[in-house]
Amino acid sequence: MDIHLRKVSLSAWIVLILLFGNASGQSADTIPSLREVFRNKFLIGASVSPTNIHSAEGEVLKKHFNSLTAENVMKMGVIHPEPNRYAWSGPDSIAAFARAHGMKFRGHTLVWHKQTPNWLFRESDGRTVSKEKLLQRLKEHIFAVAGRYRGQIYAWDVLNEALSDDPGTFYTRTPFMEICGEEFIEKIFRWAHEADPNALLFYNDYRETDPVKRKKIIEMVTRLRDKGVPIHGIGLQGHWSIHSLREDELEACLKDFAATGLILHITELDLSLWPGEPERREIRPEDNVNAYTMANANRQDALYGMIFSKFVKYADAIQAVTFWNITDRHSWLDEWPVRGRKDHPLLFDANLQPKFAFWKVVEQARNYK
Ligand code: XIL
Repeated sequence: MDIHLRKVSLSAWIVLILLFGNASGQSADTIPSLREVFRNKFLIGASVSPTNIHSAEGEVLKKHFNSLTAENVMKMGVIHPEPNRYAWSGPDSIAAFARAHGMKFRGHTLVWHKQTPNWLFRESDGRTVSKEKLLQRLKEHIFAVAGRYRGQIYAWDVLNEALSDDPGTFYTRTPFMEICGEEFIEKIFRWAHEADPNALLFYNDYRETDPVKRKKIIEMVTRLRDKGVPIHGIGLQGHWSIHSLREDELEACLKDFAATGLILHITELDLSLWPGEPERREIRPEDNVNAYTMANANRQDALYGMIFSKFVKYADAIQAVTFWNITDRHSWLDEWPVRGRKDHPLLFDANLQPKFAFWKVVEQARNYK
């Protein structure tokens, strides 16, 4: 780790000299603000909780970020736990923090088949709810949530992860799809638009670098747009791994999505040091190693540089880049897919300091047209 740290401060100097010319008089620990570096290109966001915005990580947030996403507290199961009860205090406190610090606020997410409340699909006697009733519940939910934050949320993920990873299947089998059929998709976008006419509306999904999945995403949003459904953008989650992300795939991915003419948001960026796995599993002995090795860190640094060189290249299409969490002190990947296995997927380390990857990212600002 010593070598790594020495490399960081050397790199800091190089980047500062590149960005600001003669760096004399600047101290080696002058750290540029990420959001300033990318100002006029794209917003820099992070997913947050009502508590971590007020912790030490909140200071990193204030310096480097200008957009927030609620990591969990706006998901149906959390914000609408019972039929007639909404939990507003968490999202309200994030909205207040965003306002106080001049940050944008992204809404995540109006409809997703995960983290849904138990009551949503059931009648009070336990039977599966009818299509009419489920649509009515979705409508009420969307009007309540998007209505409350009208004018405060600049972009909503209206629908999250509806498309299948199985190459032969279009939609994922979810209770929404089973009960309502695909027509619910069009409806929820129309309702969201009615509830907050100025919010940009997004379809958000992962594994977007996979050509088959990507084709499905583009097909679905194009169909919706052709029908006149209010959809303005595509959210590319960007949960990637140093073991599988390939430059040619990312290039093809951004090129294809940019060609749709829709706004692109990178919505949940992180770069895991572990290989990606689709399902949750128990911890195994081989997971009990420190993944933050020199080799992995070097790979992560180089890949973060590559990723942002692509974001800069496609900056005309990309309006926002949001990281999923703030620093390596806490990432959802510490819990998923293996509970208790530490990951280091972000630009700031567990001590809240910029990693070498941070400087590789900052360096990409050099390539602005
Ligand atoms: C994750 C959160 O980060 C975790 O805290 C929670 O336990 C599960 O959900 N795709 C999404 C996000 O759209 O909402 C997920 O967030 C990560 C994957």
